Amino acid sequence: MIEAIVLEQLAFRYRPNDAPIFEALHHSFPRGAVTAIVGASGAGKSTLLYVLGLMLTPTHGSIRWGEWSVTGRSDRERSRLRAAHIGFVFQDSLLDLGRSALGNVMEAALLSGLDRRIAEKRATRLLQRFDVAHRANHRPGELSGGQAQRIAMCRALVKEPEILLADEPTGNLDTDSGDVVWNAFRAAADQGRFVIVATHDTSRLHLADEVVRVPM
Ligand SMILES: Nc1ncnc2c1ncn2[C@@H]1O[C@H](COP(=O)(O)OP(=O)(O)OP(=O)(O)O)[C@@H](O)[C@H]1O
Ligand SMILES: [Mg+2]
Repeated sequence: MIEAIVLEQLAFRYRPNDAPIFEALHHSFPRGAVTAIVGASGAGKSTLLYVLGLMLTPTHGSIRWGEWSVTGRSDRERSRLRAAHIGFVFQDSLLDLGRSALGNVMEAALLSGLDRRIAEKRATRLLQRFDVAHRANHRPGELSGGQAQRIAMCRALVKEPEILLADEPTGNLDTDSGDVVWNAFRAAADQGRFVIVATHDTSRLHLADEVVRVPM
């Protein structure tokens, strides 16, 4: 069992001549904790989540899952690790516009290798939990911003990922829906998952087990 996600000497820049977004970063994210990532707009919160989510490759340094280095793996293997172990809530939801809400959640479940019957059961339950079951058959273009954001949460949670990464997941939500989302983070962490959330919502930082400020 992986005890921590460890960053060592981690650096990232988008282009060779650009200034680094971060460098010489060291941090250990503990299992079973909610970590909030905070910092000014443009500070690099989303970038750090993309690197943690194996969508961007660090320019330097390493990411370890326990003793096991995930940097330097092939694109194919990183895609496989992502589908199997990482749930990601994107800052702008990033739903598939051609699929219904239910279809979006089901797709993530099926890609992670779940059987269709289990995928549908879990997806339906999550849509109920996030109070969007009545929009199950609607496409993203027919949803409000907050509904899309809640469906993005369902999409990330449906495969019950070891690692849950969420980028401003409550930006479009009212207090009640925001509470449901943060309760879901707490529950996921209490089940022993890694939960890392970039947020501007300072009113909820007391719900995180640790707060990390970027630039670190
Ligand atoms: N694809 C890209 N290519 C080059 N630079 C980029 C790219 N994406 C983001 N950046 C730059 O990297 C920096 C960090 O961006 P990032 O999106 O990580 O910030 P953030 O902390 O998430 O900001 P916000 O709070 O506004 O979401 C910014 O200066 C941004 O303009
Ligand atoms: Mg961002």
